[in-house]
Parts: sequence; C-alpha cells; structure tokens
Amino acid sequence: MKEHIQQLLEQTVTLLKENDHIPAEAAPRVQVDRTRDKSHGDLATNLAMMLAKPAKKNPRELAQLIIDTLPASELVSKVEIAGPGFINFFLDSGWLGKQIETIASDSRANVAAVAAPQTIVTDYSAPNVAKEMAVHHIRSTVIGDAVTRTLEFLGHKVIRANHIGDWGTQFGMLIAYLEKMENESASDMDLSDLEAFYREAKKYYDEDNAFAERARNYVVKLQGGDEYCRTMWKKLVDITMAQNQAIYDRLNVSLSNDDVMGESLYNALLPEVVADLVEQGLAVEDDGATVVFLDEYKGKDGNPMGVIIRKRDGGFLYTTTDIAAAKYRVDTFAADRILYFIDSRQAQHLQQAWLIARKAGYLPETTTTEHCAFGMMLGKDGKPFKTRSGGTVKLADLLEEAHQRATKLIGDKNPDLQGEELDTIATTVAMASVKYSDLSKNRTTDYVFDWDNMLTFEGNTAPYMLYAYSRIQSIFRKAGVSATELTGSIILEHDKEEALAQKLVQLNDVVHGVAAKGAPHLMCTYLFELAGAFMSFYEACPINKDDVEAEVKASRLRLCLATANTLKVGLGLLGINTLERM
Ligand code: ARG
Repeated sequence: MKEHIQQLLEQTVTLLKENDHIPAEAAPRVQVDRTRDKSHGDLATNLAMMLAKPAKKNPRELAQLIIDTLPASELVSKVEIAGPGFINFFLDSGWLGKQIETIASDSRANVAAVAAPQTIVTDYSAPNVAKEMAVHHIRSTVIGDAVTRTLEFLGHKVIRANHIGDWGTQFGMLIAYLEKMENESASDMDLSDLEAFYREAKKYYDEDNAFAERARNYVVKLQGGDEYCRTMWKKLVDITMAQNQAIYDRLNVSLSNDDVMGESLYNALLPEVVADLVEQGLAVEDDGATVVFLDEYKGKDGNPMGVIIRKRDGGFLYTTTDIAAAKYRVDTFAADRILYFIDSRQAQHLQQAWLIARKAGYLPETTTTEHCAFGMMLGKDGKPFKTRSGGTVKLADLLEEAHQRATKLIGDKNPDLQGEELDTIATTVAMASVKYSDLSKNRTTDYVFDWDNMLTFEGNTAPYMLYAYSRIQSIFRKAGVSATELTGSIILEHDKEEALAQKLVQLNDVVHGVAAKGAPHLMCTYLFELAGAFMSFYEACPINKDDVEAEVKASRLRLCLATANTLKVGLGLLGINTLERM
C-alpha cells in the first residue's frame, strides 16, 4: 500500500514537472508514512512541504495541486490536506478485503500474467560431459530454474538452454578411452564414476603415445562428422546427461533432455561466423590467429585488447561459441531477452562475446542480454567448498547427505513419523533446504554452504517455510471446515490482520521483481516476511477457540487460506513443493 501511494506520488511529480508547476531539476525523496491517529487517514506524506520551496509555492496550495494531479486509484477512498501542508490518504479497506478473497481462491494467488509476453532464453545449469556435476553447479541450476519458472508463470515464452560442455579436443581422448574400455571388458562398461573415467583417459593420453595419436586423430574425425566418432561421442553425452537428469529430477529442476543445447550445437556455425567477422572488418589475422580488437577493452599497454576467435591451429574458442550461440538464439527463437546464469568470474568473457555479436549485427538492440552472475560457493571456513581431502564435492553426494540429515531433523521433531512417510517428507525437506539456502541469498555475493544454517526450523530456511505452510493445514484440519465452505467478507479489524493482508497483496510486485532482476532471493525474503506476519497474526488472533464469533472465524480462516496459497505459489516458483503435514 505504501509502495502504491509512493508510486502514485512519483507519477504526480512527473506530471507536475511536465506542466511546469515544479522545476524539472527538483528530485524530492517521496516519503510516505503510516499515520498514528486513524482520524488522519492511513498514510501521509510531507511531499508538498518538501517541494514548496523549489516550486516557490505555498505548501497548502501545492498540496491541493498534488491532489488534483494525483492519478485515480481504487485503493484510495479519500485524500485530505492537513496542518501546514500534509496530505493524508484514507485507504479503502473493502478493496483490501476483496483482494484477500481472490488470493485465497485463485490458483495464481491473484498474480496477473503480463500483457505483452516476451520470448526469453534462459541459459543455465551447463555441466560438462564426462564429468559428474560438482557442487558448484547447483548455483546456476537452481537459480536459473527459479527464474525460468517465474518468467513462465508470468506468461512469457521461455526457452531453456542447457549449454553443456559437450565439445572440444578432450573428446578425442575420451572416445579413445571409451573404445579401449569397450574392447577390454566383455560386459557393459560402468560409467557410474565419470570422474575416474576422465582421469584415466587423461592418464593414458599423457603416458601412451599410440593412444595419444589415436586420440588426436579422433578429434579431427569427430570434427569432420565421422560416424563412428559421432556414435562414441553421443554415448558419452547420453551417459553423462542420464546421470545429470537423475539429479535434476531429484532436485525438482524443470530441465529435461529436450533442453540440452550444448556447445556442439554451434560447432557447424563457427567457421561462418569467423568468416563473416573477417568480412565485416571486425576480425583480423594476427600472427596466424584470427582476432577481434576491442577499443572498449584496453590491455596493459593501453592498446585495444585482442579477443582470439580462432587459434593458429584452426581451433575455435569458448568465446567464438558464445558469439554463435547469441546469434543462434536471435535467429532461431527471435529472443527478446537472453539471461545467462553463470559464475561472476565469466563476466568479461560474456561482455566481450556480446559486444562482438552486437557489432556484427547478430544481437539487435531490441534483444537484451543479461548476466545473472553469482558468487562462489564457500565452505564454513570461507574457502572454496571442498571435500576433507581437498577434492571437488560431487553434487550427488551432497544431495545424499542432505537426505540423511533431513531424515534426522524430521525424525527427531516428530518421532511418530516412520518408514515411507518419513522418507517422503525428508526427501522434500532435504531438497528444499539445499535449494532454498542458495536461493535465499543475494546471488551476486559468494555463498557460504553450511548444513546447520539450512537444516533448521529457525530463520529464513526451507524447514521454517514448509512448517509455516503445514501449520496452516493443521489449523484447517482442527477447524473442521473446508476451504470451499468459507463465506462472508474479510474483516480486518485487528492490526495483525491488517498487516498480514497488506503483506499478502505484495506477491504480485515480488513476482515481477524476480522476473525483472533475475533474483529469486526477493521471493525468499518476501515469503519469510509473510510467514512472520502470519505467525504474529496467529498469536494475536485466535481461530479455533470457542469464543470466536463465526464470521470472525471464517474471515480469519480465509486469511489463513490466502497465506497458504501464497506460500504454495511462491515456493512453487522456486521449485519447492509444500507438505500438508510434517
Ligand atoms: N560449461 C560452462 C562451465 O562449466 C558454463 C557454460 C555457461 N553458458 C555459456 N553460454 N557460456 O563453466
């Protein structure tokens, strides 16, 4: 509400400037406060007093001008001038009640779809073939997925692009090793340990000349589309992605095999792109390599920095692929927006690839590219998150540990739960906790991974949020009524009822904020505040007590329902399922 009035006043300031009532350079901080005395309305602003001097007007006179210019709003029932020039707003409580009724009954919790849907490509997850997903992949995967779900919910056409690392010279060595294994073992090879596979392949490559020779030969053949090499390569991709898909499914991440658009997809385009950049005069031959010199980036010597797009040996680079990928996304999907969920250390790589794509006309002005960057994943000691022996933590192992820890947390809290029921709840809590703890922090900073902070019922955590939801379900079970039986209007007499209602109507703004900024933590912060407002409401406003009047009880139950619905929708957009009991 406050935000709404603030917006109205900001629009008013713009209009007053356009009509020369106030000078264009005036930039007042529009402040809106709650009034202490309800006879002065609900909200008030001192804007007229702040602007009186620059506008060279009497404050009360200016206040009247502001009121006359203020855009109409169904939330405001009356506006008055008070004292030396305060403007008091009286809100229409009927409006708020009506909103709550809709939030309680609508599967979208009253969030409207956008009027003009866009086509948006989301580039996220992007693990590498023949390697197991490591713990740090979780950041891109869950943050990208939450934003993808949010954009889709708002009605945009979203294309998930899983830019997996499935191309490069290492595939020669991987194919040669796969071949060796298939020849040597009669049974189906076991690729469950992809890390070991990669390590072994590298070992042979470094130590066995004949093997290395064969590997190099396979690189050339694979590039040339040789059928045998293609088949072997495909096997490696499929085995890797089958394992990764199991992780996506377990984490409730909405990626499927259809979303794989790996580096190999752009391989065929690379020679054309390089040739075109040369033709356009953007790229030049430099010491055998093909290079784009960018004035926007200066090297140490003050000269424009060179970005290599083709090496002396003819090989293409990661940047070349990203230039081609940007072009492809515009040509094939007519993308309006492309969001990249990638480690912040790749910022310069992306900026340069986009800049080159823009100069070449592959990326029109109407297509925005955004780096939804995130920081590193650190251990409690503030150092990069590693196993005790200093190795990379496999994501699959981390999820397994989460499951064990969640089983203990839930089992301890609720000893009656056992067997399959306990397991189902623990699974949801485990995955929710791992995801939520990452999602709830502002993604731009490094993220400290800490089991104790995520698997607890206290604070802004998944267990707390899930518990708040299941608690509302138990209030309903106790009340013995179903949602559809609730009628009558919403009564917002108690402060805590009003505060909860005010919080509930903010979901719409929050969803749009997440979509605009690619920042799911805004949703987490909001849901946490909502759960807090609910707990305060529930403490102050009894529901299942004998002396609560029937209409009051029905109204409060609908506030409960609206809260539960909002939590469900909000958590759902984060890729987190709710639990009816826990
Ligand atoms: N596979 C890359 C990595 O592991 C991430 C790819 C990100 N996406 C992109 N379009 N460059 O670092």
